[in-house]
Amino acid sequence: MRQPLVMGNWKMNGRRSTVETLLKGVIAEISGLSGVEIAVCPPYPYLGLVIERLAANEAVACGAQDVSAYADGAYTGDVSAGMARDVGCRFAIIGHSERRTLFGESDTVVAQKFARALAADLTPVLCVGETAAERDAGRTQEVVLRQLSAVFRECGSGAFERAVVAYEPVWAIGTGRAASPDEAQSVHRYIRDVIAQQSAQAAGRLRILYGGSVKAQNARELFGQDDIDGGLIGGASLVAADFVGICRAACIG
Ligand code: PGA
Repeated sequence: MRQPLVMGNWKMNGRRSTVETLLKGVIAEISGLSGVEIAVCPPYPYLGLVIERLAANEAVACGAQDVSAYADGAYTGDVSAGMARDVGCRFAIIGHSERRTLFGESDTVVAQKFARALAADLTPVLCVGETAAERDAGRTQEVVLRQLSAVFRECGSGAFERAVVAYEPVWAIGTGRAASPDEAQSVHRYIRDVIAQQSAQAAGRLRILYGGSVKAQNARELFGQDDIDGGLIGGASLVAADFVGICRAACIG
C-alpha cells in the first residue's frame, strides 16, 4: 500500500505575513488527519520561517521548488540541493513545467537536478507532462517517456527507488481544467509501466502524484484511481481550507 502524498507548490507567491497566516491555517485544520503525508514548498526566502514553524509539527514536511544542477560553488543566484537539505527540506520539486518552459530547462538539466537532489538525500519530485499541442498530436506517452528516459540515463535503472513522480499535463496547470480521472489514470499507469521495465520493485513503491487544477471538489475522484497516489497542488494550496480539503480527500479509509 502506498501512502498518499499531497504537496502544496506555493510558487512565487506570498510575503512573510501571508506565509505565516497560511501555515497557521494549514496546521490548525490538519490536526487529527492521518493516512496522508503532507508537504508544502514555499519560495526560498521563506524556507527557514516555514521549517521553524513546522518543527513542532511532524505532520507537515517542507520541500524546495527547485535546486541547482550544480554542487556548491560559483553559481550566482542558484541554491544547491545540499543547502535545501541542510535547512531542513525533505523534498525538491524537479523539472516543473514552468521551469522547463519559462526558464528553458532541458531534459538533461532536469536530470542533473534530479541527481543532485538524490545525492543530497532529498526526495526528488520529478514533474512530467505534455503541452496541449503535444496532447492534441497524440504524443503524450512519447513526451513522458522522453522525460523519464533522461533521468534513467543520468541516474541509472534505480533512479526512482527514492523518488516521486508528478504527472502534470501543462494544459491543466492553473487553467481550471483538470485531466479527467480516466485520462490521468491511463498516463499514471503508463509511467508506472515504464519504470517497471527498469525496476519492478521501484515501480510498485513509487508514488505518482497528479497535478493540474486539483481542487477539493475533484480530488477524491482523481485520488481514487489505482495509480494516482496524491497530488501536487498549485493555486488551491494558497488557501488553507482548500488545501486541507484536498489532503482530506487523499486520506486512506
Ligand atoms: P495548479 O498548479 O494546481 O494551480 O493547476 C499545479 C502545479 O503547477 O504544480
